[in-house]
Amino acid sequence: MEHIFPTYAQYPMEIVSGHDWHLVDSNQKSYLDFTSGIGVCSFGYSNDWIEQSVLNQLGKVWHTSNLYPSQLQDDVANALCPDGMLAFFCNSGTEANEAAFKLARKATGKGKVLAFNNGFHGRTYGSMSLTGNPDIQAGFKPLVPEVSFADYNDPNALDAITDDLAAVILEVIQGEGGVVSGNGEWLQKVADKCHDQGVLLIIDEVQTGIGRTGKKFAYQNFDLDPDIITCAKALGNGLPIGAMLGKKKLASAFGPGSHGTTFGGNKIALSSAKAVLEQLTPSFLTEVQQKSKAVFAAINEQIEPLAVVDSISGLGLMIGIHLNPSIKVDDVIAKLQDEGMLTLSAKHNTLRLLPPLVMSQEDLLTGINQIAGVLESIDLTVEL
Ligand SMILES: Cc1ncc(COP(=O)(O)O)c(C=O)c1O
Repeated sequence: MEHIFPTYAQYPMEIVSGHDWHLVDSNQKSYLDFTSGIGVCSFGYSNDWIEQSVLNQLGKVWHTSNLYPSQLQDDVANALCPDGMLAFFCNSGTEANEAAFKLARKATGKGKVLAFNNGFHGRTYGSMSLTGNPDIQAGFKPLVPEVSFADYNDPNALDAITDDLAAVILEVIQGEGGVVSGNGEWLQKVADKCHDQGVLLIIDEVQTGIGRTGKKFAYQNFDLDPDIITCAKALGNGLPIGAMLGKKKLASAFGPGSHGTTFGGNKIALSSAKAVLEQLTPSFLTEVQQKSKAVFAAINEQIEPLAVVDSISGLGLMIGIHLNPSIKVDDVIAKLQDEGMLTLSAKHNTLRLLPPLVMSQEDLLTGINQIAGVLESIDLTVEL
């Protein structure tokens, strides 16, 4: 790739086609996919309903700008928003978080935001400034000011939620940070303190949203009441779209001219999102929960007891297998690739699994069995 900036450490194969939850590389090798393109293609690689919706829109009009109202935008917003919220459409997760950051400051008239160490919110300046990972920020200072950080799941973090904050931003499960699950009681206390102090609670659902944890949004696994929700990734199943959802009381801060983006609410991306949301039904989510139960049971039986495995985390079909420092997660990923399976890493030597939500239970369990086999073979050769 001579003409491309080397921003990504890449695997050696080029993926050229896909169907259901399988991907095929340029040597015609087929892979069972446990990545979904990093949590994007939750409905797989050949979903007729989405394809028809996009083809239908391609035959009408692709783009009109936001100078004209769009019924499609309103339909998708209606399907996406929890009661009492409005949507702003954009093109990615980082843009959704930029919108949230701007809205929180403008609506409250306050500048300070609290974020969490080990969190990830994107790579643009605002979102990167909210990202609690010095490696990601390295070399890019000065960052956006007035952002402070507390430790995730730490009771002391509650003391940092004071009425001079515009917002607190968090992920319910820190994805890039190593699939670190928020403690339910702690999340509830953070939400309560935010509401008591007049601080907006922004929940970043970019990775956890759109069914990944068995609920439309991960915060619905707990009794939280966010003021702002951000999402992207799986919303378009591969077409670029993001959305910031906020309570109606915030609408006056985002009046005409306050914020915008040319492609936000683009009709092609929205036609995909519409078809995604039409399939994200209560019975689909119940199926995800059932598959998750079977997968975690298999992981607990076959993987958790292995000496090279420190712990297991996650919810729904967002899974972290935390490996012992004696082995490298990249070696495990490479071995699985050799055997025809794609997986992801995350911080702290975590093997991260984000399979398409439509994957059959049989193939999910086949994949878990394959990971167990690879880890077992390493287990025997590693001296702990
Ligand atoms: C929780 C979270 N927020 C924001 C982002 C940034 O999204 P994007 O890469 O679409 O800008 C990501 C991407 O991994 C994410 O996991």
